[in-house]
Amino acid sequence: MKAWCSQLKPALLILIFNLCFYASFQLTEPQVCELCGGAVLNGSVVGQFCASSAGRVHGRCCFRNDNTSGHEHIIGLDLSNCSLARVEDLQGATEALMIDLSLNPIINISDTVFQGFSELNYVILPQKIDCPGGNSSWEKVEVKAGNRLCEGQKDMCNQTGQLSSECPENSLCAPYGPGFFQCSCADNYHGYKCLREGTFPTLQVFGPLVASTVVLSLLLWVTQRRKVKPL
Ligand SMILES: *[C@@H]1O[C@H](CO)[C@@H](O)[C@H](O)[C@H]1NC(C)=O
Ligand SMILES: *[C@@H]1O[C@H](CO)[C@@H](O)[C@H](O)[C@H]1NC(C)=O
Ligand SMILES: *[C@@H]1O[C@H](CO)[C@@H](O)[C@H](O)[C@H]1NC(C)=O
Ligand SMILES: *[C@@H]1O[C@H](CO)[C@@H](O)[C@H](O)[C@H]1NC(C)=O
Ligand SMILES: *[C@@H]1O[C@H](CO)[C@@H](O)[C@H](O)[C@H]1NC(C)=O
Ligand SMILES: *[C@@H]1O[C@H](CO)[C@@H](O)[C@H](O)[C@H]1NC(C)=O
Repeated sequence: MKAWCSQLKPALLILIFNLCFYASFQLTEPQVCELCGGAVLNGSVVGQFCASSAGRVHGRCCFRNDNTSGHEHIIGLDLSNCSLARVEDLQGATEALMIDLSLNPIINISDTVFQGFSELNYVILPQKIDCPGGNSSWEKVEVKAGNRLCEGQKDMCNQTGQLSSECPENSLCAPYGPGFFQCSCADNYHGYKCLREGTFPTLQVFGPLVASTVVLSLLLWVTQRRKVKPL
C-alpha cells in the first residue's frame, strides 16, 4: 500500500483532489430547500408542476437536469405553510420557474430578493404582499383564495419607454428578474460602460495563472520523482 502511494504522481494527486473538491461542491443541496421541514407535497401546485416536468423532489425543492449544461438546478420551490415571517435570501433558486410562499406570516419582501430570477414565471404570495417588481412586471396578477398569484414575468428589455433604454451604446439588455434588467457588453466591447473595443485580453489575464500552475506542477513532479527513484 505504502509503495503504491509513494509512486503516485503528484500531478495525479492534484487531479484527484480537484475532482473530489468539485464533486463535494456539486453534491451539496442548497439550504433554501431546508428552510422548513417537510417536502414538496404531491397535490400542491409546485408538486404537480414538478411531476409534469419530470423533476426530482428534495425537501422543499424540485430539481431538474438542464439538458444543455448537464447541471441539475431548482425549477420549483415550495415554501408554503413554512411559518416564514421574513424572506431575505432565496439563493440557489435563481433559476426557479415557480415559487410558492403562500400561508406564511410574511410582512414584507424586498424586490431585491428576486433579483436575477429571470426564469421566474409563477409566484404565489399571501394576498397582502405585492408581486415582486410591482404589477407592471407581470402579465397577470390575480387574487384567489387568499393568495396573490403573479403570472408571466414581463421582459423589462421589451417595453417601450422603460429604463432599459439606458443600457449604454454597444451593450445588450437582458432580463434580470421581475422589474430588473442587466446590460452586458456586445461582442467585441468590454470595460467600463462597454467603451473599449477589441477582444477581451484573455491571455493577459489568465496567461500568468495558467503558467504559474504549470510551473508549480512540474516542480512538484520533478522533486517528488527524485525521492521515488532510489526505491
Ligand atoms: C406522489 O405521486 C406519485 C405519482 O403520482 C406517487 O408515485 C407517489 O407515491 C406519491 N407520493 C406521495 C407521498 O403521496
Ligand atoms: C431533455 O432531454 C430528454 C431526452 O434526453 C427529453 O426527453 C426532455 O424533454 C428534454 N428536456 C428539455 C427541457 O428539453
Ligand atoms: C400547515 O402546517 C400545519 C402544521 O405544520 C398543519 O397542521 C396545517 O394543516 C397546514 N396547513 C395547510 C393548509 O396545509
Ligand atoms: C417593509 O420594508 C421596507 C424597506 O425594506 C420598510 O421601510 C418598511 O417599514 C417595511 N414595512 C413593514 C410593514 O415592515
Ligand atoms: C396590483 O393588482 C392587484 C390586482 O389586480 C390590485 O389589487 C393591486 O391594488 C395592484 N397593486 C398596485 C400597487 O397597483
Ligand atoms: C415583446 O413585446 C411584444 C408585445 O408587447 C410581444 O409580442 C413580444 O413577444 C415580446 N418579445 C419578447 C422577446 O418578449
